[in-house]
Amino acid sequence: MNTPLQLLLIAGARPNFMKIAPLIHALQRHHRAATAAGDLPGRPIHYRLVHTGQHYDEKMSEVFFRELGIPQPEVNLEVGSGSHAAQTAEIMRRFEPVLLHAFAPPPSKTGGPESSGGNPDAAAPALPDWVIVVGDVNSTMACTLVAAKLGVKVAHIEAGLRSRDRTMPEEINRLVTDALADLLLTPSEDANENLRREGVPEAKIKLVGNIMIDSLIANLPQARQSQILQKAGVTPGQFAYVTLHRPANVDSRDSLGAIMRELTRLAQRLPVVFPMHPRTRKMLAEYGITGAGDGALKIIEPVGYHDSLCLTENARLVLTDSGGLQEESTWFRTPCLTLRPNTERPVTVTLGSNRLTTVERLRADFEAALNGAAKTGTIPPLWDGQTAARILAVLASPTAA
Ligand code: UD1
Repeated sequence: MNTPLQLLLIAGARPNFMKIAPLIHALQRHHRAATAAGDLPGRPIHYRLVHTGQHYDEKMSEVFFRELGIPQPEVNLEVGSGSHAAQTAEIMRRFEPVLLHAFAPPPSKTGGPESSGGNPDAAAPALPDWVIVVGDVNSTMACTLVAAKLGVKVAHIEAGLRSRDRTMPEEINRLVTDALADLLLTPSEDANENLRREGVPEAKIKLVGNIMIDSLIANLPQARQSQILQKAGVTPGQFAYVTLHRPANVDSRDSLGAIMRELTRLAQRLPVVFPMHPRTRKMLAEYGITGAGDGALKIIEPVGYHDSLCLTENARLVLTDSGGLQEESTWFRTPCLTLRPNTERPVTVTLGSNRLTTVERLRADFEAALNGAAKTGTIPPLWDGQTAARILAVLASPTAA
């Protein structure tokens, strides 16, 4: 009999959800096709989903599960916030027993000889064939470490991205995850090149494309129904969409103060919609900094996925420090200014609509963009909505690493 291929999928923080959803949907399609055919083509594939609980607010997590049609996770580790070390350690501690028994049969009610008597730690290990991690958040690295130590193969979706800036927590997460992963599923050729330069064997690297764009394309109809422009009081093409949450921008009084002063000034030129990440809100309160009071700088609660896509598609300009928004702006060909000294997503600059900026240059770059010098760029290769299908084909192939 064909033994099933068992996958344990990990998601933990907001930017993970749009990367895991297309894979789940591809797995569901695979299962439906197999059931309809009455005969499974190749090995059946079983999956389970673990949410680490790194993000836990309704607006940072649940809304994305709902909008993206992600089923409830089998397990939520509920780790919550903490310092990097504390959060990473807590995820590892809580994930290890879950991984060990990820595919254990439900405990027998009668407590037969194979029963663990309700104590999962005592049950025989039931490890998956693969742990699948996405992106570059603490959950990605923590679960990779646990799996690697237990000898479970790890596949990393969005592997190979490098900012070459080790002050970014995500860069450390990328380096550790890719050093340990057995299968590196990359979004673009530059990622393959980064991995080759680090000595990763060619057989482990598979260029599959950008899985975020699978979610974007699948959710366009709903995004175009969004009422967020009316709610925020802006009209298409007549506002800037701002998101900022990176520690380098918001975790210092000087930097956050300067950014808020600039945004207040820019809002005089063009209304600004700024859904604020909880980290940014917390830092503003801590430093006693206030935003503009005249209504042109619209600071709102974090928005859901469809609202965010709608804002990106309709903005005159996006200003961000998020990785995902650089890519989504490129797909929509909306000019984007990224408030960072570097990007791990260089195709958004070389091919796409993205340009790096600084607080000092922001005013000039903003003016230039409004005066017609904005980039619209082109859509990079393999940003076509088919990445999850390519990933499944790789995982299902007998030669998967
Ligand atoms: C994390 C990721 C970052 C990603 C971002 C998107 C890491 C190292 N960073 O950063 O790559 O771009 O998510 O959001 O994994 N908080 C809440 N509610 C929540 C989650 C967080 O209030 O649901 C607050 C807490 O005060 C917390 C702070 O935000 O201390 C930061 O959260 P954390 O998960 O540590 O990192 P992010 O800044 O969200």
